[in-house]
Amino acid sequence: MKPLQNMSIVITGGGSGIGAGAAKHFADAGAKVTICGRRQEKIDQVKAAIGDAVQAVAADITKAEDRERLMAAAMEHGGKIDTLISNAGNMYRGPIETLDEDELLNIFHTNVVAGMMLTGLAAPHMEKQGGGAVIFIGSVHNRRAFPGASPYAATKGALEALTRVLAAELGPKNIRVNCVVPGAVFTEINQRAGLFDDKTAKARLDGMASMHALGRIGTEEEIAEAIEYLIRAEWTTGAIVDVDGGLGLGISQG
Ligand SMILES: NC(=O)c1ccc[n+]([C@@H]2O[C@H](COP(=O)([O-])OP(=O)(O)OC[C@H]3O[C@@H](n4cnc5c(N)ncnc54)[C@H](OP(=O)(O)O)[C@@H]3O)[C@@H](O)[C@H]2O)c1
Repeated sequence: MKPLQNMSIVITGGGSGIGAGAAKHFADAGAKVTICGRRQEKIDQVKAAIGDAVQAVAADITKAEDRERLMAAAMEHGGKIDTLISNAGNMYRGPIETLDEDELLNIFHTNVVAGMMLTGLAAPHMEKQGGGAVIFIGSVHNRRAFPGASPYAATKGALEALTRVLAAELGPKNIRVNCVVPGAVFTEINQRAGLFDDKTAKARLDGMASMHALGRIGTEEEIAEAIEYLIRAEWTTGAIVDVDGGLGLGISQG
């Protein structure tokens, strides 16, 4: 398997949650990590907690100039780009009758379009050095139906489609494209969307524990372990890997 030592990894949405956990996991393994997020203080905190292996770049991935700047900074920090973890994502939900068109376009912009554009920017760098890896982050929302969450689920379904098509398209350049599909992990995503406060969000996720075959929600580190496999496994592409403690099984009692 490919070593992580000195690998140059870009993580979007690295200022909190799964992205921050991945930044720590890969920096601890000897990679050079470039994270981005819109809130400077959040990415700075992650960098301060981990150290100089991490570079923090304030960037909004829905803006073309920010994407270019992010990639240039990663080239500077890591000397190359081996891996893009397209992790930044937002939640938007509501009954279908009430959905706002601009909000729908916004969530597709962040969760789908920006990751496509970043993949397009990363691919030439990866090709030049003989290959690379792109990881998309899907969601258990494509395994279990949560009424009212159609916008978010639709974006995550798009990422699974993209994983397969881009794996086929970029395979001849030895660029592998894979997707991790996390289950419930306590992060900021619902709070940032204004859906719950921290306490309610945590209680809600803990309340889902019994829906998991393994009886608990997951951790950021457990998602990073799956991402690591997909970055390192040199004959794996187009794979969609569920890491959800069995939440996606849709277990029914009785
Ligand atoms: N937590 C779960 O249970 C779960 C389950 C399945 C999938 N996921 C997926 O996991 C990924 C990470 O989410 P998370 O749960 O770790 O939530 P999170 O803590 O809210 O992290 C998402 C990060 O994305 C950043 N971000 C959002 N829009 C951005 C933009 N336009 N440009 C740059 N950065 C942006 C946010 O920072 P700023 O606001 O500062 O930009 C935030 O730090 C998402 O794709 C999410 O859909 C999460």
